[in-house]
Parts: sequence; structure tokens; C-alpha cells
Amino acid sequence: MDAKVPSSAIPEAVQILQHGGLVAFPTETVYGLGADARNAAAVRKIFAAKGRPASNPLIVHIASFSQIASCAEIGRSFSPKLVGDRLNKLSALWPGPLSVVLPAHPSIAQEVCAGGSTVAVRIPRHPVALELLQAFGGPVAAPSANPSNYVSPTTASHVREGLGSSVGLILDGGPCHVGLESTVLSLLEQTPRVLRPGAVTRAELSLVLGCEIAGPSPGDAPSGAPLLSPGLLEKHYSPRTPVVLLPALSGASALPQQRIGAILFSPRRLPFAPTALKILSPSGDLAAVAAQLFAALRELDDGSLDLIVADTCEPAGLGEAIMDRLLRASRR
Ligand code: TXA
Ligand code: MG
Repeated sequence: MDAKVPSSAIPEAVQILQHGGLVAFPTETVYGLGADARNAAAVRKIFAAKGRPASNPLIVHIASFSQIASCAEIGRSFSPKLVGDRLNKLSALWPGPLSVVLPAHPSIAQEVCAGGSTVAVRIPRHPVALELLQAFGGPVAAPSANPSNYVSPTTASHVREGLGSSVGLILDGGPCHVGLESTVLSLLEQTPRVLRPGAVTRAELSLVLGCEIAGPSPGDAPSGAPLLSPGLLEKHYSPRTPVVLLPALSGASALPQQRIGAILFSPRRLPFAPTALKILSPSGDLAAVAAQLFAALRELDDGSLDLIVADTCEPAGLGEAIMDRLLRASRR
């Protein structure tokens, strides 16, 4: 399926959604694969196209804060007043790269919630996403538009390469400027919990909400038990080529005659001569690193390399999300 220039293609995209089809669209984080969140058959097509386990719930995208009431039932929260207040405060961060987990409204298809009773909701900041969501007028369930477990797409060509003919239409909005998936924040507990770090940092959330923010706790998901958030699955976001983090290398001697691709956050000397080199920022600026990380991983994962070696940073602020994705990519 060819990608189309957005504005002229919005009416066609809306028609596809109304008829239970799939539309890939740009957001500021990554491209999403969208379907009407109230249409179970349409949502099942998303899982089929991605090869996604039915146990992994989807994020619901809306155009405005007033639409939350049609996706979530705050009244079923552990404390409706507290959760309502927190949601109002968080609205300052929307539109933006933040998804909030709440009790689900019954009109949202069971498949979206993966059989559970909660839903993640987000208002994306990309103008094309907002135009689509406004024109459609309803909630759009959309995971990242990639085959399950592969690196998320940050351009329309990434979507075409990965999902091709299974998508009704791809809206091309250019490269995504944030480049990492949204922060997933659960409001289901007394202490709000980040289930997946993203560009909205824990410090920012703490400031906006005026309370402590808990982090992902893999210990909550003993093997066999349902995961708190399936995005916490250890191996995820992975290229086919093995990924090793730079500090884990014990020097050039550990790399005999391998074809190595290297991803550096800023220019510096390496203890080996890489076959291919991607330098993501002249100054190590983490926003630039995040924006280009997935495209770099995909480019080096073209089958001709034995190993991808990736730079690392302090896992704080935006660095928490960057290191989260790289650690998952490097798990075998
Ligand atoms: O930036 C993003 O979030 C992108 C764009 C398209 O919006 N979407 C995205 O979707 O990354 P996906 O499906 O690739 O990741 C959604 C994450 C998964 O880790 C999933 O387990 C978690 O959100 N999630 C969704 N609904 C949830 C729920 N009800 N409770 C807990 N976690 C949930
Ligand atoms: Mg994904």
C-alpha cells in the first residue's frame, strides 16, 4: 500500500475506519496502526496484522480531553475524586507523548483491553493524527505500526516495509520527532505508576501531579502471572541482528573479524573499526538521540552485519526511556 499525503487522504482514512478497516498514521512518538476502538472485528485485524498476542492491550487515541468520558469510567476508579483531579492535572501534558491507564468504558471493545477492565488513553500531538481523530470523531485503538516485537516505525516507509498490504492506508506525516513510544502511566493505584518510560519523564509527572511516581516493577509480574503491562515483556523492540551495549564490550579482542554496526550518541573513538557507524547527535543531545534511535537500529538491521553495538547514557530523564528500549533490544 502506498503512503498518501495526509490532508487530501483524511476523508478516505475516515471512511476506512468507519468500515472497520485499518489506517496507519503518524504521531509525534511513532506511527500507529489504527482501528475503531469500539469495533471488535476491526480491532482483531490489528492483532492479526501485527501478529500481536491477544493478551497485550492497545492504547486508545482521542482528539480532545472531553472524549475521555467515552473511553474510561473514572467513577469505577479506586477513588473517583482523586483520579479525576489527577487526570485534570495531567491534561496539561496533552496533546503529548503520555498514555494514562484508567478503568475502561464498556463501549471500548474487549479486545482493546485484552480481556481486562482497564484502558490506556492518549491524545497525540501530531497535527495529522489530530486531524484524523477529529474527522473520525471516535476513539481509535492504535499500537505501534510494526510486526509484534520488532522496532517501532518512525517513518511511513518503516510501516510499509513491516506491514505492507495488511494496512488499508498509510498517512505519511514525515519522520516522528519524539521517536520513542509514549510514557504509559497507570492511575489505578494510590501511587501513580509509570509502566513504560517515555518522553514525559517521571520528574515531570511528579511535578504536575504533586506526588511520588512509582516506576515499572517487573517483580509485580512473576512468570506465568498476567503482566501488569505486557510492554514490560523483557525482550521487545528488537532488531534481528544481535544488539550489545557498548560498556558490555571487553575491548576489540572480543570482536574477531565481525561485521559490526555501531550507534553512538555523540562522536567518539571506538576500540574497534565498525563496518557501519551512526552518530545520532553532534553533542549527545538526548532528544536528538531518541528521535533517530529506531531509524538507526532499522538501518543497521539490514542483514549484512553480525552485531550492532549501541552507546548508552544515564538512565534518568529522557535517558530512562532510551536505555529501557536499548536494554530490551539487547536481550536475547
Ligand atoms: O507512543 C505510543 O504509545 C504509540 C503510538 C502509536 O501512540 N503506541 C504504542 O502502542 O506504542 P503499543 O501497543 O506498541 O504499546 C502500548 C503499550 C504496551 O506496553 C501495552 O502493554 C501498554 O501500552 N498498555 C496498553 N493498554 C494497557 C492497559 N490497559 N494496562 C496496562 N498497559 C497497557
Ligand atoms: Mg509496540
